[in-house]
Amino acid sequence: MGPFLNKSWLFLVVCFGLMHYLANGATCKDCFVHSMAAHYPDSDEKGTETGECGFGSFGATINGGHVSAASDLFRNGVGCGACYQVRCTNSNLCSEKGVSVVVTDHGSSDRTDFILSRRAFKGMAQTTDAADSLLSLGIVDIEYRRVSCSYPNKNITIKIDESSNNPHYLAFVIWYQQGNKDITAVQLCETKNFTCKLLDRSHGAVWTTTSPPSGPLTIRMLFSGDDDGDEEWIVPVNDIPENWKAGATYDSGVQVNVV
Ligand SMILES: *[C@@H]1O[C@H](CO)[C@@H](O)[C@H](O)[C@H]1NC(C)=O
Ligand SMILES: *[C@@H]1O[C@H](CO)[C@@H](O)[C@H](O)[C@H]1NC(C)=O
Repeated sequence: MGPFLNKSWLFLVVCFGLMHYLANGATCKDCFVHSMAAHYPDSDEKGTETGECGFGSFGATINGGHVSAASDLFRNGVGCGACYQVRCTNSNLCSEKGVSVVVTDHGSSDRTDFILSRRAFKGMAQTTDAADSLLSLGIVDIEYRRVSCSYPNKNITIKIDESSNNPHYLAFVIWYQQGNKDITAVQLCETKNFTCKLLDRSHGAVWTTTSPPSGPLTIRMLFSGDDDGDEEWIVPVNDIPENWKAGATYDSGVQVNVV
């Protein structure tokens, strides 16, 4: 082979190597990603009720208090409610399984992707002694991957935010969203004449509208798609009653399957 052929051959090998690498990277959605995690500084075991997702008390206590603030994974609020398996990598202290946490807040600390509740942080340890050692480290190396959220015996539930004021202003968050998809859009529909309008995400997981229509309402949710499926509108079977109240919760009567 002359020098020209040699070069082409090398070029081909590099190309195939790169394609192979890219293809693996693109299909590896269950792979763990390396990062760092810290924990909330306060003495509270669970998360915070004032998390930037706007979930309120749900954001502190959901999933047994195994919750987290996310940095980039917060994704301007789209990441609120997403579940991640997080495990620390120190084989002396950390369990293989780690913990499953729900994103309920936004924040970062010294190159971390997660700030876990203390309960979740300790949950990554093999033993209670190891949990104390882990906690005193403050920041640890971790691996994480997105997993399905699971809320047995719960339907997707609409929580009307306390800032709401019927009939002038409606703000709400969506609780107990199972699975591993994002809610990327929400429509507010009048059930009597099926007129719908897209709502704005005001911050975190909070959707709002001024002058909501009168009459019973339905809140339709657009779930993101993936390689295997298209985006999908989930339509509740239960209406929000006309006399909805700030602070109240309404069972949608629907749930998405855990995959
Ligand atoms: C739909 O019905 C609601 C409640 O009855 C009413 O307020 C609204 O004006 C109606 N919208 C349209 C577009 O007809
Ligand atoms: C969920 O909604 C269904 C109706 O669609 C209802 O039969 C069921 O009782 C609800 N589950 C809970 C836990 O509220």
